[in-house]
Amino acid sequence: MTSLPQPSRRWLAVVLAAGEGTRMASSRPKVLHEVAGLSLIGHVLASASRAGADGVAVVVGPGREDVASEVRRRRADARVFVQEKRLGTAHAVLAARDAIADGFDDVVVLFGDTPLVRAETIGDLRVPVAEGAAVAVLGFEAEDPAGYGRLLVHDGELTAIREHKDASPEERSVRLCNAGLMAFDGRRILGLLEAVGNANAAGEYYLTDAVEVARSRGMQARARTVAEEEVQGVNDRVQLAAAEAIAQRRLRKAAMLAGATMIAPETVFLSYDTVIGRDVLIEPHVVISPGSVLEDGCVVHAFTHIEGGRVGPGALVGPLARLRPGAVLATRSKIGNFVEIKNSTVGEGAKVNHFTYLGDTIVGAGANVGAGTITCNYDGFGKARTEIGAGAFIGSNSSLVAPVKIGDGAYVGAGSVITQDVPPDSLAVARARQFVREGWAKSFRESKAAARAKKE
Ligand code: UD1
Ligand code: CA
Repeated sequence: MTSLPQPSRRWLAVVLAAGEGTRMASSRPKVLHEVAGLSLIGHVLASASRAGADGVAVVVGPGREDVASEVRRRRADARVFVQEKRLGTAHAVLAARDAIADGFDDVVVLFGDTPLVRAETIGDLRVPVAEGAAVAVLGFEAEDPAGYGRLLVHDGELTAIREHKDASPEERSVRLCNAGLMAFDGRRILGLLEAVGNANAAGEYYLTDAVEVARSRGMQARARTVAEEEVQGVNDRVQLAAAEAIAQRRLRKAAMLAGATMIAPETVFLSYDTVIGRDVLIEPHVVISPGSVLEDGCVVHAFTHIEGGRVGPGALVGPLARLRPGAVLATRSKIGNFVEIKNSTVGEGAKVNHFTYLGDTIVGAGANVGAGTITCNYDGFGKARTEIGAGAFIGSNSSLVAPVKIGDGAYVGAGSVITQDVPPDSLAVARARQFVREGWAKSFRESKAAARAKKE
């Protein structure tokens, strides 16, 4: 089924994102809600780009600067068009007329709220157009077809798409539904859409009517099919969660097939851009946010949250660790339980094993940062840096008040509050000196007991 279209055919992706119902119950536009750490429209743009779109046009509602800037962030050369009034999907596509008129071989229409469409499916939909059809429609067998447009097929030919609202009882019994994706011959699309009227139950200009218009002009319309899972739209937060579940399944599967072991994959949450190398082990209950890289052979122990950053080859993280943006763990370094690392580099083979916060810090190779060490990197106004030299040893429960440098090979005594630089290979102890009074406790107890006996 997948013979790919000629790469020489130039094509335009038109993404519709104007107008939406109120079912998200949100102050944010629907297409900016996220799946696997990326906006819905970001997913659609990524698929279009992966499918090789030469141009991208996005149609947004009036005043939607927030959507427009997300679009530009994801695809810098995208052209954004405003549909002033929500008069239907055909009307929305025509809002991008200037881009369409640039003379593309194919135009593919996508919906901004259908984030799971794969690049391969987009390429596949372009095949019938490359073969001469004026329009190709993506269909699926709906579990529950209510609400969808139905694909009406006679003798193997797609003759029309009937919107649910306009369908006869007989047409409503058809389960083959319109997914929303349509590919058009770039030279015929404007003529077809201009001929679409709005005499229907919704009083809208339906993009789907382009099929009947094409047929009435003796042009070919074809349908391709895809699994329902891939074309699920997001209209409310229940469907958002369903899309998230599908996206996570895909990401986990791709990571495992690329050489990562997951003991309980259904408990591991990845992001759209997570990079995972070979022979990586991810234990149960791990959350990985955008901007994270796990290099070959590293281990992420259970209940760890990686909010960005890089885990180097063979490094060990967790259990119960938190990496934040800018965390870089070099080869075979080790981060243990209840350790938070932010905007810091941990050198090769260095160990930060228990109950530590490192912020804006560089830890040299082979250093050992003891339990409970805290970098005091923030004074309420600005951030300052800490340097811990190669092979240095920070005793447990020390506070390093930044800016401060601990030299290579230096020792810091446990419980120190370090406010001044420590030269290489020296010892710094910054805590009250211990004193011992032998027998003090015994005589204290005796005198107290005697005083009590006298009272009674
Ligand atoms: C549409 C299809 C239907 C298909 C279904 C799949 C039409 C007429 N119907 O119906 O056949 O089964 O999707 O989910 O195309 N939009 C605009 N401007 C408008 C109207 C819509 O930009 O004036 C955008 C919406 O933001 C959305 C998309 O187009 O991204 C689809 O619109 P929607 O109203 O959700 O169409 P459906 O009724 O779901
Ligand atoms: Ca819809």
